[in-house]
Amino acid sequence: MDEKISRKNFLTRASIVGLGALVGGFATQIANADKTQNWSANKWPWPYVELDPETTAQIAYEEWYRLWCGGTVIYSVFHQLAQKVGEPYKSFPIDPFAIFEGGLAGWGTLCGSVNGAAVVASCIIGPMTQEGCEDGHIIASNMLDWYSHTNMPIFVPKNPKANKKTIVHTVSESPLCHISVGKWMHASGYPINSPERKDRCARVAASVAYKLVEELNKWHKGKYDENIAWFAPKKVGITAQFNCAECHGAKIPKPPTPLKKL
Ligand code: HEC
Repeated sequence: MDEKISRKNFLTRASIVGLGALVGGFATQIANADKTQNWSANKWPWPYVELDPETTAQIAYEEWYRLWCGGTVIYSVFHQLAQKVGEPYKSFPIDPFAIFEGGLAGWGTLCGSVNGAAVVASCIIGPMTQEGCEDGHIIASNMLDWYSHTNMPIFVPKNPKANKKTIVHTVSESPLCHISVGKWMHASGYPINSPERKDRCARVAASVAYKLVEELNKWHKGKYDENIAWFAPKKVGITAQFNCAECHGAKIPKPPTPLKKL
């Protein structure tokens, strides 16, 4: 199940891209704005300078209390680049991405911090619709895999707002907010509205921001050469995370389309 797939396979298969719609929508806005302002936001890659992962994570931790998980990951990178580089980051509307909170408006779907990281990678490197821009997608996909298998949270902020002495760590085995937060609340005993749970999610967002900047720095140096760690449509014929049995138990359903090889 954990066998990696090649970039070529991934590129030929990567037609189902929820994020593409979102980024595509933004690109259209930018293209319209381009007529009046001299932006180059619809040309990729966007200008990037290497950022410090520790500083970025600390910014993400602090700003979580205003923008929550998805918004803060975007803010932690784009706010620094707005200061160091300028456009298109200065004009990028970060605050609307507060909608990613709680797995999108509290529905517990994809954890907002990985969603935010995917937006950042795709904006800077470029969307899959552009030739040669596949690294943004690969970084986002591998981030989902890494998030699912990591004993979170990793990042320890300078002045934690809660969990000051110790914090419970959990491996979510899923990028879903519901499962990630649920497992942590179960292990720690803290409810959703507690300062401890908020601090935990702020630290998770900061951990994701840290990892994202490490990956972007590698990509910027030309040293990002990874394949996709998990791509379900190719492997099992349905979009999915990797651990089918966790939800389906022993009887994992087969998708209707016959698969040549499993
Ligand atoms: C996070 C929980 C979860 C995970 C993980 C998961 N599924 Fe599902 N899956 C569901 C739910 C819920 C449904 C809808 C109800 C149903 O049919 O069981 C579903 C539906 C399906 C369906 C279509 C419905 C059917 O019965 O044919 C298939 C096929 C399927 N899953 C296969 C998989 C495979 C293969 C994996 C692993 C690669 C997987 N699922 C991982 C929760 C999950």
